[in-house]
Amino acid sequence: MHFSQVVQMVGLFTVVGEAVKVNPLPKPTSIAWGTSGARSVGHLSLKGTSSSVVVNAWKRAYRTVTTLEWVPQAIEAPIAIYYVFPTAAPAKREVSRQNGGSHSELTTVIFSISDTSVPLQQGVDESYTLIVTESSSSIAITSKTVWGALNAITTLQQLIICDSHGGLEIEQPVTIKDAPLYPYRGIMIDTGRNFLTLPKIKEQIDGMALSKLNVLHWHLDDSQSWPIQMKIYPQMTKDAYSVNEIYSQAAINDVLAYAQARGVRVIPEVDMPGHASSGWKQVDSSIVACANSWWSNDNWPLHTAVEPNPGQLEILNPKTYKVVKNVYDELSALFSDDFFHVGGDELQTGCYNFSTITTDWFAANSSRTYADLLQHWVDTAMPIFKAPNNRKLIMWEDVVIGASGVHANTVPTDIVMQSWNNGIANIKALTSMGYEVIVSSSDWLYLDCGYGGWVSNDPRYDINVNPDAATGDSNFNFGGNGGSWCAPYKTWQRIYDYDFTANLTAAEAEKVIGVTAPLWAEQVDDTVVSSKMWPRAAALAELSWSGNKDANGNKRTTELTQRIFNFREYLVANGIGAAPLAPKYCLQHPHSCDLYYDQTELSHGS
Ligand SMILES: *[C@@H]1O[C@H](CO)[C@@H](O)[C@H](O)[C@H]1NC(C)=O
Ligand SMILES: *[C@@H]1O[C@H](CO)[C@@H](O)[C@H](O)[C@H]1NC(C)=O
Ligand SMILES: *[C@@H]1O[C@H](CO)[C@@H](O)[C@H](O)[C@H]1NC(C)=O
Repeated sequence: MHFSQVVQMVGLFTVVGEAVKVNPLPKPTSIAWGTSGARSVGHLSLKGTSSSVVVNAWKRAYRTVTTLEWVPQAIEAPIAIYYVFPTAAPAKREVSRQNGGSHSELTTVIFSISDTSVPLQQGVDESYTLIVTESSSSIAITSKTVWGALNAITTLQQLIICDSHGGLEIEQPVTIKDAPLYPYRGIMIDTGRNFLTLPKIKEQIDGMALSKLNVLHWHLDDSQSWPIQMKIYPQMTKDAYSVNEIYSQAAINDVLAYAQARGVRVIPEVDMPGHASSGWKQVDSSIVACANSWWSNDNWPLHTAVEPNPGQLEILNPKTYKVVKNVYDELSALFSDDFFHVGGDELQTGCYNFSTITTDWFAANSSRTYADLLQHWVDTAMPIFKAPNNRKLIMWEDVVIGASGVHANTVPTDIVMQSWNNGIANIKALTSMGYEVIVSSSDWLYLDCGYGGWVSNDPRYDINVNPDAATGDSNFNFGGNGGSWCAPYKTWQRIYDYDFTANLTAAEAEKVIGVTAPLWAEQVDDTVVSSKMWPRAAALAELSWSGNKDANGNKRTTELTQRIFNFREYLVANGIGAAPLAPKYCLQHPHSCDLYYDQTELSHGS
């Protein structure tokens, strides 16, 4: 039974346009379907461009289309079906051909790209149009750049599906006009805490390309390990976890090329001056403070780090800047993006009690503060970082708004701030000071939250009676965070519902350049990275591509349900180990697993 017949049968509502079986994610900014129905897709040939980026992307996509023979796994139902649920028949997968094959087969994809030489950098035009008309045997794709064309291809590969006879078809006619809301749409991997192999990193890039995320923020190292081959200081990788857990520069170039071919920028982060011990101490132990201290979370006033192991660069030692410059210059030549992330988070003052050079400096002038110390870092290190190609720098917001009270006095406003604390309040504070902001608010976007604690010898777990829930009592294990500082787990609905520019003035909102969902890797390696990342990162992908509201300003989180259910199956089919979100029953019975029977949100249309 075709959905429009269901609608007529129940006679409650009129459906505008066709029932949509395909449901690409992220939802395009504008997608308009005609009514004539599905049409056969023949052997598609590419015309209009010889750009190798586009030709190769098309080959990959067409191979996927023809080998996967994708059938949508969780189709969208027309609005009226929600009103008859749960008695309505489950969604049927067959596509009815209203015109019995009278349309000719589609045989070509014609690209029209204004300028194929525009590099993949911040603010590049990523827009495209994709049009299938009843009168043409071509699918027409128009874009300003090859990067826009790649976005069109990932939309098209989700539109072409397998019909019930084993052929390919596309629902049409359709006109898509699409462009992202934000130019910076990222996820963050952390290879300092645990190593990720190249295939697993590429798997993340595959998921990003399919969901139109365009920035891989690569937190390369941390205090625990230094996995990057350095030609100037080969000894740094003595602090890799093993000889098999090192990224050679050839391997990094391989990742960069793989990402670039898929429209993904790779922005490296070397975290300094905090979170720095491994690698650095192999060059010169005098440039690292407190590396051998007890981290002392059990005696907080004496703590030297927020997690083991401690270590921060010696801000006052001139040798530090010589090593920092050499390391930075080598990595800066390796990573070609205009942006480079230089860390700057979580500087712990207690660490410098173990630094004679620092305690002497404070003793010499009692007016000096830790803000002055961090200012010395900013004033000395930033010119080193800016020098090559006038790099655009990113720092964690701490350098301006210290999470634990330490921040510098003046930080140049041309540095982009990545905000992770305090939700919208910090986004507002930073943008109102004139900084461009990348939103990574931990309470919404940290994908590592809610998995419990990882530090051992923790007696807080040894409680065998739960407090009286009736009185609202809770403890660490029961109603508490269970050892995850940023518990609970952030679900796809939590992520998608985040209105991170709420209460910002237009001028402040203008300063938000995008979002990144970090997956810190204390409890992440190859075995779980994809299931923790996906499909939740896809909710962020749509949030940052076309937003979480429909044309009338209503939240479309419930509408995303079937789209993200389908997309998770699509990720898995494409080799990305995305986690299941719900029993498969929920995919096959649209909205039967909603909490609320009231579907008012959906009646606003989309
Ligand atoms: C560092 O020294 C200050 C001042 O002497 C003291 O208050 C603080 O507890 C010390 N912290 C550590 C980690 O030793
Ligand atoms: C002592 O430190 C304060 C704060 O940084 C500074 O304003 C002042 O000039 C310093 N005095 C001397 C003698 O260095
Ligand atoms: C916006 O500001 C109002 C008034 O200060 C406040 O009540 C509300 O919670 C804020 N909303 C957000 C999302 O921050």
